[in-house]
Amino acid sequence: MAESHPQSLLDALRPRLAAVAELDAGALEAEQIAVLGRKSGALTALLRSLATLPPEERRAVGAAANELRQAFEAAFVARSDALVSDAATATVAQRDLTMPGRRRWVGAEHPVTKVVDEICEIFHGLGFNRAVGPEAETEWMNFGALNFPADHPAMDMHDTFYLDVGGDARPGDGKAVLLRTHTSPVQIRTMMEGPPPYRVVIPGVVYRKDPFDPSHAPVFAQIEGLAVDEGISFVDLKGTLLHFARQFFSTSTKVRFRPSFFPFTEPSAEMDVSCDLCGGSGCSACKGTGWMEILGCGMVHPKVLENCGVDAERYTGFAFGMGPQRIAMQRYGIPDIRLLYEGDMRFLDQMGRAR
Ligand code: PHE
Repeated sequence: MAESHPQSLLDALRPRLAAVAELDAGALEAEQIAVLGRKSGALTALLRSLATLPPEERRAVGAAANELRQAFEAAFVARSDALVSDAATATVAQRDLTMPGRRRWVGAEHPVTKVVDEICEIFHGLGFNRAVGPEAETEWMNFGALNFPADHPAMDMHDTFYLDVGGDARPGDGKAVLLRTHTSPVQIRTMMEGPPPYRVVIPGVVYRKDPFDPSHAPVFAQIEGLAVDEGISFVDLKGTLLHFARQFFSTSTKVRFRPSFFPFTEPSAEMDVSCDLCGGSGCSACKGTGWMEILGCGMVHPKVLENCGVDAERYTGFAFGMGPQRIAMQRYGIPDIRLLYEGDMRFLDQMGRAR
């Protein structure tokens, strides 16, 4: 057969050399195997068969075959390089250089964190230091030392999360352990640490068996304040809290005190501030009253001072407690407290850009 002769095989392969420059990636690989493949490549087979040729023919055909092999090798490399650089060019061409860049999320403080820090800063300016306490408390710290009577309804299982810590402690015996229902036990811890004077602000999280609805959450933040020294009076309480309100809200903010009751303060009051949003004329945020209730306060009950080993004849003080979430909602016009818990990036991003 003509094709089986070495010379005619070489002649048959030559035109395929020129075609290499047109092959796509798949065809190029197939052609490399067909021509130079170690097992069944046509040129490989021819080179192997040289030994069977008569000497003169072997030299001539051998030289031609080797030359053709080198030419194929070079052509394969050149085509493969060209395909790689074509692909790179194509990717660049596909890029839309006018497309806007991807925007990164820039973190921001949570509105409640911001409000807590701001409030603590204002009191820091008046000489109050930050203090913190544990979220799991004994019944004594959370209620008893704060002068709650043993049968106070706040201690009910329905209002408070009791923890099962083993042993024989039972709700109502003072030793039971619970998730604190307010930050006031940290007043007790502060006063038990050493003698007065005390000026502390206590940010923290508290727990109550409340439903999770637009205005309640079972876990929420509080900021407690305590000042105890010789000669502290209700005038100091009012002056301090008025200063706070004017720093935090605005210089024209008005405050009013309404009588109230807490077992651990006497007298006790609720403090309202003139509505930040309508300036006191009445709007939906203040339910048309022009006032917003922001904290509970009072003079520390002498019984509480005594429970902590503080001489109630010599020392007096005031305490207050507020809910920074409610305050953040009022300040930013947030209609539903649950927005502060959900971690929705659209909400947080909007808050991050607020004042
Ligand atoms: N602990 C009270 C509450 O949670 C708030 C408060 C604190 C009132 C300090 C008076 C003094 O409602």
